[in-house]
Amino acid sequence: MLLHHAGPRSGLSRLAERDEDFGTPYWAYDWGGGLALARHILDNPEIVVGRRVLDLGAGSGIVAIAAMRAGAEEAIAADTDPYAIAAIDLNASANGVAIVPFRGDPTAAPPPAVDLVLVGDLFYDRSLAERVTIFLEQCLASNIEVLIGDPWRAFLPRTRLQLLADYPGPDFGDINRFEQRKNAVFSFGPVRRNGRQPLSF
Ligand SMILES: C[S@@+](CC[C@H](N)C(=O)[O-])C[C@H]1O[C@@H](n2cnc3c(N)ncnc32)[C@H](O)[C@@H]1O
Repeated sequence: MLLHHAGPRSGLSRLAERDEDFGTPYWAYDWGGGLALARHILDNPEIVVGRRVLDLGAGSGIVAIAAMRAGAEEAIAADTDPYAIAAIDLNASANGVAIVPFRGDPTAAPPPAVDLVLVGDLFYDRSLAERVTIFLEQCLASNIEVLIGDPWRAFLPRTRLQLLADYPGPDFGDINRFEQRKNAVFSFGPVRRNGRQPLSF
């Protein structure tokens, strides 16, 4: 898959200097969770074939693009950052797929009309993780399946997760791709009855 990324000659710092609302360009990098989830979808297309999916916190759009390449009926890519929405548009074009962009925070509303929610690397901050977990619970209650890709970050809701696959690979910012992390894909479900962490690492 071809993605437009930040690099020494990408001109990102010039763009940032011109816009005081520029923020943190998460959309300009690969993240371990998104890489794992995209790989998992491309290797197991039946997960998305003919289904409507929401890529929550889409960043570059890597997960939504993988879903469309694998045969999803529709992929909504949601991100609060306007630059992410622009990047998703470019990356979708580069990969020959159409993505439905949504600029905003889906967790602030009831779950949308989709079959599957895909979450790539969104558990890096405590309050965001809590908010996302509540939203994902609402998705489950609406019979929407949820898959998460994550390199075991601190605020992952581990008692809700079933490990589906491991994809050793680089984490965020490791442009040289030297360090191999345990990037994983999980399904999100009800809290396990014994309340214990189901997985160790
Ligand atoms: C760590 S990046 C992951 C990007 C992508 N999923 C991946 O794995 O490469 C997190 C992204 O989520 C976006 N984000 C954070 N909170 C959000 C929210 N409440 N609603 C939508 N997007 C959000 C950020 O702007 C950022 O682009």
